[in-house]
Amino acid sequence: MFLTLVAYSDGTVRLQVDEKPEIGRFKVPDVLLPGLKAREQSWNVERKASTKNVHISISISPTAYNVNSNNNSKSNGKVAPDVVSVELSFDPIKLELFRNQASIAIFNADKHFFFQHRREKRETDAEGSWAENFKTHHDSKPRGPQAISFDLRFPQTKHVYGLPERAAAFSLTPTIEADGKTAITEPYRLYNLDVFEYKVNSPFGLYGSIPFLTAHKKGQSVGAFWLNAAEMYVDVQKDAKDSPTQWIAESGVLDLFLMPGPSPADVAAQYARLTGGTALPQLFALGYHQCRWNYKDEEDVAQVDAGFDEHAIPYDVIWLDIEHTDGKRYFTWDNSYFPNPVAMQDAIASKERKMVVIIDPHIKRDTKWPLFKEAEDKGLYVKDKEGKDFDGWCWPGSSSYLDVTSPAARDWWADRFLLENYQGSTKNLYAWNDMNEPSVFNGPEVTMQKDNIHVNGAEHRDVHNVYGYFYHMASADGLMRRGRAVDPVDGDRPFVLSRAFFAGSQRIGAMWTGDNAASWEHLKVTVPMLLASNIAGMSFSGADVGGFFGNPDTELLVRWYQAAALTPFFRGHAHLETKRREPWLFGEYIANHIREAIQYRYRLMPYIYTQFLQANATGAPIMRPFWWEFPDLDELFYAEEEAYLLGPGLLVAPVLEQNAKDVRTPLPGTDMWYNAVTGESIDAGAASAGENKERRMKVKINTMPTFFRGGHIIPMKERPRRSTAAMARDPITLYIALNKAQTAVGEIFIDDGSSYAYMKGVYTYQKYVFENGQLKGFPATDTDMLAVGLPPKQKQKQQEKLPGGGVKIDRVVVLGLTGGPGDWQVTVTWSTGETAGLEAQAGPIYAAGRTQIDAPALVVRKPGLPVDGAWTLSFFKSPQQHTIV
Ligand code: NOJ
Repeated sequence: MFLTLVAYSDGTVRLQVDEKPEIGRFKVPDVLLPGLKAREQSWNVERKASTKNVHISISISPTAYNVNSNNNSKSNGKVAPDVVSVELSFDPIKLELFRNQASIAIFNADKHFFFQHRREKRETDAEGSWAENFKTHHDSKPRGPQAISFDLRFPQTKHVYGLPERAAAFSLTPTIEADGKTAITEPYRLYNLDVFEYKVNSPFGLYGSIPFLTAHKKGQSVGAFWLNAAEMYVDVQKDAKDSPTQWIAESGVLDLFLMPGPSPADVAAQYARLTGGTALPQLFALGYHQCRWNYKDEEDVAQVDAGFDEHAIPYDVIWLDIEHTDGKRYFTWDNSYFPNPVAMQDAIASKERKMVVIIDPHIKRDTKWPLFKEAEDKGLYVKDKEGKDFDGWCWPGSSSYLDVTSPAARDWWADRFLLENYQGSTKNLYAWNDMNEPSVFNGPEVTMQKDNIHVNGAEHRDVHNVYGYFYHMASADGLMRRGRAVDPVDGDRPFVLSRAFFAGSQRIGAMWTGDNAASWEHLKVTVPMLLASNIAGMSFSGADVGGFFGNPDTELLVRWYQAAALTPFFRGHAHLETKRREPWLFGEYIANHIREAIQYRYRLMPYIYTQFLQANATGAPIMRPFWWEFPDLDELFYAEEEAYLLGPGLLVAPVLEQNAKDVRTPLPGTDMWYNAVTGESIDAGAASAGENKERRMKVKINTMPTFFRGGHIIPMKERPRRSTAAMARDPITLYIALNKAQTAVGEIFIDDGSSYAYMKGVYTYQKYVFENGQLKGFPATDTDMLAVGLPPKQKQKQQEKLPGGGVKIDRVVVLGLTGGPGDWQVTVTWSTGETAGLEAQAGPIYAAGRTQIDAPALVVRKPGLPVDGAWTLSFFKSPQQHTIV
C-alpha cells in the first residue's frame, strides 16, 4: 500500500492511498485542473522516526488566497498567515487537520478506514464478493471485492452540505443513529441514474454525483472531496457534536482532498482551484428557455416563437426534443416534420434568438447509418464483458454507447458538431445532453452493467459516475470547435445542458434536475436541490418550470415561473403526454403574471451575468445559502432552504406553498434590507435572530419577494425587450442599497456575451462605490481584473468600440439615505473636473412598483453617466426642495 500526503499552496491537503502501480486500480483522469503539481508545497516536518506519529505543517498566506470579501480585517495584509497543519498517526491510521492549532477535520477517528486489496479468490469469501445477481442481471465481478471506506469528522460542527444529486434537505439530515451503526434511512447514494418519477425527501441518488461536501460552523468552513467515480454511499451520523460522516465506494482509490477554508468563499475557491470555476455562459443561455417534448414541426416552432412576441414575453431559446430526429439518430432531422432546419434556425436567429436540440449518447445500431458505422469501425464503443460492442436499449431501440472515457472517442464525437458534419445545423444551434448517466432501459437500475469494459480495461463500475461528465465535455468541445471554425479569431462559447454530472462539470456547462413533477412538493424541493449543486460548484443549474410530469394548475405554474426566474438556469419543459403550457394558453391574467416573472429575470440580467464572471474565477456559487454570505451567522439560519441569496446582494424568498397569503422572508444579519419591489427598508438589527428568521410578508399572486442587501449596488436594465440580445445597448439603472454605515459596493461586467474576445481584453468591467456621500463609478483596476481572471483591458482609445462602450446609466436609485430620501442635491463631477447639477427627487424605486410607499428612494433621473467612465456623484442634503440646475 502506498500513502501520499500532499499540501497545496492554498492549504488544501490531499491524502492518497493506493496499491502498487502494477495493480492498476482506476484513478479518475481529466477532472483535476492541469497545473496542480506546480502548487504543491513542501511540508515542515516537525516530528518523525522516534514515534510513529508525524506532525507536519504549512503556512498559507491570507493575502494571496483569502477570498472572503466579508471579512475586511483579513485583507489588510497585517494578519499572521494561517497555519494549516496535519498530524498523521499510524496503527491505526489517523489524519487530523488543524487550522491555527484548532482541529477542523479528522480522518479515521472512528476506524472505518478499510481498503480491500485486489487478490485471488478465497474459499472463505462472502457470497457476492466475486459475482452478484441483481434482479435478472448478473455482475461477474472479475476483480473481486475492492471497496474502500473511511470516516471523517468535523469537530464541533453540526451542519454538512453538498453531495448532490438528490431531492432532499439542504443541510444533510442524519442517516444513522449516534451509535454509528443503526440506520435511520438509507445512506446518501452517489450513483448516476435515470430515476423514473423521483420522490422528494429521499437520500436516493439521482442523475448526477459530486462527492464534495462543505461542513460549516461559525467562523470555519471545511471542504471534503473524494475524487472517485464508482458507486458511493455516505452516511451522516446523528451526533450534534462533530458531524461524523462515513464514506464507502465500490472500487477506485482513496484520493481525498480536505480544504481548510476558513470561510465558505475560501472553500469554494480551494475547490475551484482543483476542479475549475463555472464556465462563463453566453448571455442568451441566462435568458428564458422554452422547451417541450416535443415541438412537433417547423410550423409549431414558428408559432411558439411568434406567441412570445405577440404576448410581449421575453425568451431567448426554443428547444427540440428527441422527436425532431430521424428515428432517434442524433445529428439528423425527421424530414417530414423538419424539412428545412436551416431556414427554421435562421428565422429564429433573425430575432436574435437561438435553438437547442437534444443529442443523446446512445447510438442506434444501424449499420446503414454512417455515424454508427464509423464509430464501430474505429472501435469507439463501450464493450461488454466478452469484449463485444455493448448493446443496450434506449430510445432508438438497440444502441451502442460511445466510450467517452477515451480521449479518442471524445475527439471523434466533438467533430460531429462541425457544420460540415452536422447537416442541417447552423452556428445558432446548441446542444442538450440527456440520458448520459448513461440510461440503458434494459440494464440494471436502468443503467450499464458494471462489468462492461472501457478504454485501458477500466470496468464500468470504476467510471460510472464520470461517464456523463465526459460525454458533456465531448459535446461542449464540439461546439467550441465549431465556434472556432466559424470565427477563428474569437470563437463562440459552447452551451450544452447535461442531465448527468460529476465534479468539474461546472467548467463544461449547465445541468438540470431531470424529470420532476408538477406538484408543490417538487417546486419546493428545487431550492435545496439547487443550493446543494451550487455549493458543490455546479452553479449553472435549474429545474424544469412547471414540473416535467403532469399538468400544473395555473397557480402552481405562475409560482414556478416566479421561483425559477431567480435560479441560475431557467427553462420551461414538459413531458410528451402533458397538455401544452406556453405561457399565453391560460388567458391574459396568467400570461401577465408569467410575463412579469420572466421580465424580472431579464431586468436583473446585468447583475446575474456579472455574478457568473465571479463564479468563473472564484468558484463562488450563484445561488448562496445565508451562511455562505454571513459565515458568522446565528445557527438558527443554518438549515434555511427556502430563502437564499442570488449573488451577494439579492435575497430571494420564493412563494412555494399553495394558496399562500403570506410567506416567510427571513433576513439574516443585523444590517439593512430593502424590499426590491416596494423599496421598504427593514433594519434586521432591530429584531432578534429568531424574529428575523420567522419574519413574514403578505403576498398576492403576483408578488415575488426579493430584497436588496444593504451595502450592495445592483445594476439592472428596465426596458422590456424580446431577448437578451435585444437589450445589449439598453441603459442601466443602478440600485444603491445603503447599509447603516451609508456605504455600498457593486460592479458590472459587459462583453459581447458570446465569444472568447473578453479573454483578450475586449470587455467593460466597472466598479461602483458609495461612501462619504459620494457615488463613484470607475473602471476596475488591473488588480481587480486579475482577481476575476480577466486580462487587462485592451488599450483601446475608442471606448464605444468595446462592449459596454456608449451604454448609459439613466437612473440611480438610492435606498436608505440617513435623513430620508427627500431634499437632496446631487451633482456630477467628471474626470475633467467639470461639475453639473442633476435632477434628483424622492420617488418610487421602479415605475411599475406596486407600493404603499410613494417615495422610499432618492431617484436621480437621466444622469447621462457612461457605464464605463470615471465620475463622481455627490449627494448634499439641501434645506429646500431641490430644483434642476
Ligand atoms: C428524459 C429527460 O429527462 C426529459 O427532459 C426528456 O424530455 C426526455 N428524456 C425525452 O428526451
